[in-house]
Amino acid sequence: MPDVELEVHLTDAERAEALRRDARRGLTATPKWLPPKYFYDARGSELFEEITRLPEYYPTRAEREILAERAGAIARITGAKTLVELGSGSSEKTRLLLDALREQGTLGSFAPLDVSGAALRDALGALRADYPDLHLHGIVADFVGHLEVLPEAGTRLVAFLGGTIGNFTPAERAPFLAALRARLAPGEWLLLGADLVKDPAVLVPAYDDAAGVTAEFNRNVLHVLNRELGADFDPRSFAHVALWDSHHEWIEMRLRALRPMTVHLQALALDVSFTEGEELRTEVSAKFRREGLTGELAAAGFAVRDWWTDHLDRFALTLATAV
Ligand code: SAH
Ligand code: AVI
Repeated sequence: MPDVELEVHLTDAERAEALRRDARRGLTATPKWLPPKYFYDARGSELFEEITRLPEYYPTRAEREILAERAGAIARITGAKTLVELGSGSSEKTRLLLDALREQGTLGSFAPLDVSGAALRDALGALRADYPDLHLHGIVADFVGHLEVLPEAGTRLVAFLGGTIGNFTPAERAPFLAALRARLAPGEWLLLGADLVKDPAVLVPAYDDAAGVTAEFNRNVLHVLNRELGADFDPRSFAHVALWDSHHEWIEMRLRALRPMTVHLQALALDVSFTEGEELRTEVSAKFRREGLTGELAAAGFAVRDWWTDHLDRFALTLATAV
């Protein structure tokens, strides 16, 4: 049985240093904000998996529908020898791609990359049992600024699924796509999942579900700050807010202070005051249109070969080649 490798490019010390820097920058800014990657400790990754099963959260089901229909074509078109997955999480939907590539006989290795070591270890454990012939090469890394760690064996297909591209702001997206393109040779492939602009009556409940799981996911970042930075946030004193920004065409998640408070962050020797009603931005989740995304990919040096949507046109999967 080929071994399971786990390369750690982001040590606990580096992650802690990045969190200190980002928390200081975001919590002393006006308005306050935090980068979404800090949702994903072990608990946050579990909560995300729960979100994917909520009736209101359609993106996972829509993307799975497209993958189920198109995985065979993706395998034939790309003939990929290595499948790399950025922000892989549980890699659950990715199994559809692994199955199609394996059936075709080209696939030699799968390299899931995630900032969450806990999610990656769980995923690798489950994959090892079901894909005994596949070389599994897990990479704990931040996909922003660390793409030099991508493995280089054979024709690569890089999958970036779930709509995680939407968690960048447009200003962050362009350099990310350019950096990814720079790591690929002409003719290698990107499979990109993107959620599409739609009626806010569908969008908003997907980020504000009746069971309150997304609210827990949102507040989880405060638990992370409490644990990692010795902070004393009272998560119950923050309300979950999800709103549709029709100008930017993104969902914004925020945490709204329910009372005035001062929070102490021991590791930063920092006090942060909130007025009642003050909001902390924790995530944007941009929604896309075909022309816009195709243009952004072209500007980064990718040519879109295919654009597939689910039967309700909620979500798109784009297969693009590095030119
Ligand atoms: N691709 C999966 C999971 C999406 S959740 C799906 O489609 O269901 C987003 C994933 O990206 C999480 O597992 C999170 O840990 C990871 N992630 C978020 N920011 C990241 C970053 N900067 N670098 C690497 N992984 C990141
Ligand atoms: C990972 N990412 C694509 C999810 C999204 O829909 O933006 C994260 C999420 N935030 C709230 N619910 C899910």
